[in-house]
Formats: sequence, C-alpha cells, structure tokens
Amino acid sequence: MSYMSSKYIKHETDVLIIGAGGAGMRAAISAFDAGARVTILSKSLLGKAHTVMAEGGIAAALANVDSKDSWEVHFSDTMEEGVYISNYRMAELLAKEAPERVRELEEYGALFDRTPEGTIMQRAFGAHTYRRLCHVGDRTGLEIIRTLEDQILHRDIKFFDELYVTKLLKDGGRVVGAVGLKLNTGEFYVFSSRAVIISTGGCGRIFKVTSNSWESTGDGLGLAYEAGAELMDMEMIQFHPTGMVYPPGVKGLLVTEGVRGEGGILLNSQGERFMQRYSPKKMELDARDIVARANYAEIMAGRGTIHGGVYLDITQKGPDFIKKKLPSMYKQFLDFAGVDITKEKMEVAPTVHYQMGGIKVNPETTATNVPGLFASGEVASGLHGANRLGGNSLADILVFGKRSGDGASSYVKGVSPGKIDESTVSAEIERVEAFVGKDGLNPHEIAEKLAESMSENVGIIRNEDNLRRALKTIADLKEPSTRAGVQGGLKYNKGLLQALELSSMLTAAEAIVRGAIERKESRGAHARSDYPKKNPDLRKNIIYTKGGNEMKLEWREVPRIPDELKKLVPEEVY
Ligand code: FUM
Repeated sequence: MSYMSSKYIKHETDVLIIGAGGAGMRAAISAFDAGARVTILSKSLLGKAHTVMAEGGIAAALANVDSKDSWEVHFSDTMEEGVYISNYRMAELLAKEAPERVRELEEYGALFDRTPEGTIMQRAFGAHTYRRLCHVGDRTGLEIIRTLEDQILHRDIKFFDELYVTKLLKDGGRVVGAVGLKLNTGEFYVFSSRAVIISTGGCGRIFKVTSNSWESTGDGLGLAYEAGAELMDMEMIQFHPTGMVYPPGVKGLLVTEGVRGEGGILLNSQGERFMQRYSPKKMELDARDIVARANYAEIMAGRGTIHGGVYLDITQKGPDFIKKKLPSMYKQFLDFAGVDITKEKMEVAPTVHYQMGGIKVNPETTATNVPGLFASGEVASGLHGANRLGGNSLADILVFGKRSGDGASSYVKGVSPGKIDESTVSAEIERVEAFVGKDGLNPHEIAEKLAESMSENVGIIRNEDNLRRALKTIADLKEPSTRAGVQGGLKYNKGLLQALELSSMLTAAEAIVRGAIERKESRGAHARSDYPKKNPDLRKNIIYTKGGNEMKLEWREVPRIPDELKKLVPEEVY
C-alpha cells in the first residue's frame, strides 16, 4: 500500500528487502511463500545484479560427475579454505542445503549444462576436492538471476527499482523501515516494515581495480553499521587471480575461473608454467589466494606481460570446445581487447572480487544483533572466513537467501508495525537535499581518491606503513564527504547518488583497513609482508561496531566446532 505525504510517498509492507541480486530475490520468494507481504528495493534495474558476475558455476555436492563427492567433503573444503575462522554451522548448512537449492532452481526453470547421462554437469574449480560446480557455460549467475526474476514476477511481490536507501529507521531498538530516494523520479519514499533484510552485495567499488559492477559500493554495510549492527571479518578481501588487464576501460573485469576449470593454464612472459613452482600438485586449481599471489609475484618479478599481467592459455582446447564452454569469455575478449581466445593467449592479473566479511548474522535465521534486521549474500559474513571457494557465493545466496526470507517472515508474525519517527525522516530528507544545487566538493573526486588509495595501499600484500597511509586518506576524506555538492536536482542525478554512497564506502574502507592493521598475521586472503606467518592465537574473528563516532574493534572467539564435524576437517589446525 502506498500513499503520499507532502514530502514523501509512504509504503507499508511486512518484509522489506534491500537489494535485488540472487540473495534478495531468493529471500523474497520464501518470505512471500510463507505468507508475508514482501517489497524489494534495488538501486539498479531488476535483473541488473552483480550476481551475474559469478560466471563459472554454483558449488553443490551433487556427485553427478565425481561420485565420491558429499556434503561432508564440501564442508571440509569450505572450512579449510576459510582457514578455520568460518562459522562451522554456516559451512555445514551450505554444504548440506546447496544440492536442494540447485535442484529447486532447476524446477524453477534454470537450464544447466548436462552430462551425457542427462544430469546437471559439474566442473572443476580451485581448491574443491571434486568437480562440483554446476554451470550454464560461463553465464551461471545470469541464468540464476533470470530464473529467480521469473519467479518474482509471478508472485505478488512489490518491486521498486532505481531506489537508493539512505537510512534505516528504528523504533527504540528495532528496525522498522527505511528512507529512500527514487533515483529516476527524485521522489522520497518512506517504507514502514516489520522486518528488513539487507542483501546489497559487496563493496568492491571502493578499489580502483575490481571485478565488481558499479552497484557494489558497500551500501548495506553502512546502513547496518549506522543502525548498530555488528560487522565481522571485514579485513578479508578476496582477489580473484584473473581479471582483464586491458584496455583500461575494462581493467579488472572478471575472467572466470571456469577457464582454468576447463583446462586453461597460466604462463609467464618466459613461457614457463609457473604454478609448478607455487603449487605443484594443484597447479592452476589451487585456492584463489595462492593463485592470485603467484600471478602477482610473477608480475612483480618482471616476468609479466607487456600490459602488466600473466598469460592464461586455453587455445589447446580448440575453438568448438571454447565457444561452447566459455562463450562469454570468447566474446568479452574479442569485443573488448580484440583477442580471439581460441587462437591467442589472454592477459590477466589479480582483481578485487569479493568481501568475505560483512554483517554478522545468526546462521539459522540470518538475524543480526539488531531486532528486525536480517542480512544475506555477500553483505553478510561468517560462511567464508578468511577466504572463499569459487562457486560458494552462488550457493551462499540461495541457501542463506532462503533462510533470510524464512527467518524474517517468521519474525514478523510476532511483531506489530513500529512507529515511524517523523523528525528522523525529515532530518534525513534534509540531509539528502543538502547535497543538491550547490558548489561543494566533487563526490566523484572523493570516491576516486579513496579507490586509488585502497588499491595502492590495501592490495594483495599488505604492510603496516601502507595500511596506515590508507587510514589517513580515509580520515582525511570523511569530513569533506559530508560537504560534497552537486548541481542539478534530485532526479536522475548520478552525482547525487555518488555523494550518498560515500558514507558507506568510507565505513567499509575504514573497517577493512583497521582490521587489516589489527590482524598481525597472514591468513587466507589477508597477507602481510611484515607478518608473513599464520598466528594460531589469532584464529579469531574481528568484530566492528559503531561506538559514538568511533569504529570499535574487538576480537571474538570462533564458535567451537562440535566433535562430529571436527573429525571432517584436517587435524593440524587444532
Ligand atoms: O570465476 C568465477 O566464475 C567466479 C565465481 C565466483 O566468484 O564464485
């Protein structure tokens, strides 16, 4: 139901979902099917979600190709990849429930590639013991979004696209709604809801070189943090080993791990298959952090390509195979770089790809520590620990997206709508309007300075000096970001959107850097040249909260793994 007040349009719902990627859409389906009124908000257009950038497949132990696979092995691989700071229960739920979510997706209409026997085809991916990645060529994320979108459109779920949420609203301690700006009309909306699910994805755009699409500016992290939610493991940022290196406009764009999964090999400028030196057993299919650091080391040692990458070669597989298995990669390289990957090598380098950290959630329901607030997908933390297995993100959004919808719809049965505080709404509208129609600092320049500093100082190998430099840049940008100014009005104003995004971008950046300084060891994706070893005493999570105007950090014990699961993971960690 929507009606207009003098300043804003009001909309009431039971479950408000912020973000329309795979997690948000899967949450909407289950909340609706449980009887809740559901509204989804997206700052982009429906279907234009970052989920599509997970190309190579979804991890689920179906055992169609390798019959020995099982949820237990998937669980063990996930824990090992997370370097044992993952939440064991989330890893267990993921491994157990991913097969059911994949089969359900198929029932919804997703068209997976097939084995000769007609079952869902599965391919190899880095650090998965077995061939486990169910895929649709190299367009798996796209097929998932298409399928979920179809389900959404066939349900009575309200959808507002091009709507940017600027603030969560609280009644006492609980979240009861949100304020947002409809970007294409310039109208303000106030949503009154019994529960809010945040599924806004990651924050890769705070780095200059990233595989992430423009939407990934950490919006949900900022909203949750400001509302009092705990963030966790924010220092853990994943570099994908293979992003495009040229032309400059597509630098960082993902080159799917599916290329290596289908037999692609990495070579340096001397023609050496260098993974033999870094990981003689697993070679190109070792964990992402290991392959990414190997690529980086080769480039730093002067054995890189002319454009500053290494070579990725799949030509040996022949044109028919490549065009069938990797159609998007074929087209992407041909269109953007003029490279025919059936005949020529690709040039690739590490690119920021994923945030393992995010909002801390309850594994069963995805509830946060703030009543009424839930989170799922990349914006939530716990499952991936210090590193994520490729394909586990698509499994994550389905497993925990569903759990979010179930958790929120069950929560709303027990609560009445909260009170919307009009003075908070007015103050928020004034804050947004204050950016418009004035000469202020250019928000784009502020975002650029941040991204440059993050890529330069918070890279694949970190150290105290660089991290301190990044922290200073963030501190220097904070106050100016509140004085940003843009010309024009509220409607279709890209500059205004950028000004609004800055606050969450800076929160995400500050958490990443503070955590990276605090974690004086190397673990998974977090590698420090000044602390190159893993420190067993730091097998803990870092929790981030807002305390007044300061960000507070606290070490917290990793949940104790029960004996029946402990026996599934390698001994040496304990
Ligand atoms: O390489 C890829 O296709 C990415 C997949 C993922 O990050 O899960």
